[in-house]
Amino acid sequence: MLHDRDLSARAEIVAAQLDALFDSLPSGYECDKQLATFNDSYTYGEIQTRDIAVIAHNVTEPAQLTFAELGSGLGKFAIAAGFFFKHSFGIEFAPERSAVAQRALVALGERAPPNVALTTGDLREFPLHCIDVVFAHNLVFSSGLERALELKLDCELADGVLLLSSAMFSNIHAAF
Ligand SMILES: C[S@@+](CC[C@H](N)C(=O)[O-])C[C@H]1O[C@@H](n2cnc3c(N)ncnc32)[C@H](O)[C@@H]1O
Repeated sequence: MLHDRDLSARAEIVAAQLDALFDSLPSGYECDKQLATFNDSYTYGEIQTRDIAVIAHNVTEPAQLTFAELGSGLGKFAIAAGFFFKHSFGIEFAPERSAVAQRALVALGERAPPNVALTTGDLREFPLHCIDVVFAHNLVFSSGLERALELKLDCELADGVLLLSSAMFSNIHAAF
């Protein structure tokens, strides 16, 4: 089992590597300009890559667990999770951002964790059974999306699943 210090050190290395790579790719904000249709839920904001250490710290054996990010944007965080978790899934609605995520995986080549799957689609349709750790950077989700997601989490999350979100869900107390 990795100790906090090891987790943080590893997250710093992963973050430095991914930050350097993503500097050469279009940003989430540049993608915004290309979005054919836009609604409030697509507003972009990025969690710090190194915060993956905080998530990995909150579970006992990340290497045995499956991680999913709902609304994975350019895929940076979901890719970082692949360095810590057994499997990492990301689902992103905006094809422009999803395309950048695929480019990032290709650019990483052999350095890309092989256990990462990034797909284009609606998080409301992403199956959550078999996922152990769910993360959503949901600060700017519209109230409609937030309600739908809350309902979905309520129906689909099994006991013991760790739910992490950047904004509290009103009826789910496990979030922080
Ligand atoms: C605040 S950004 C977070 C980006 C990334 N997760 C991060 O933290 O670095 C939220 C993302 O959720 C995506 N999104 C919004 N509605 C969605 C939906 N219904 N299904 C999938 N993704 C969605 C947006 O396009 C955006 O890229």
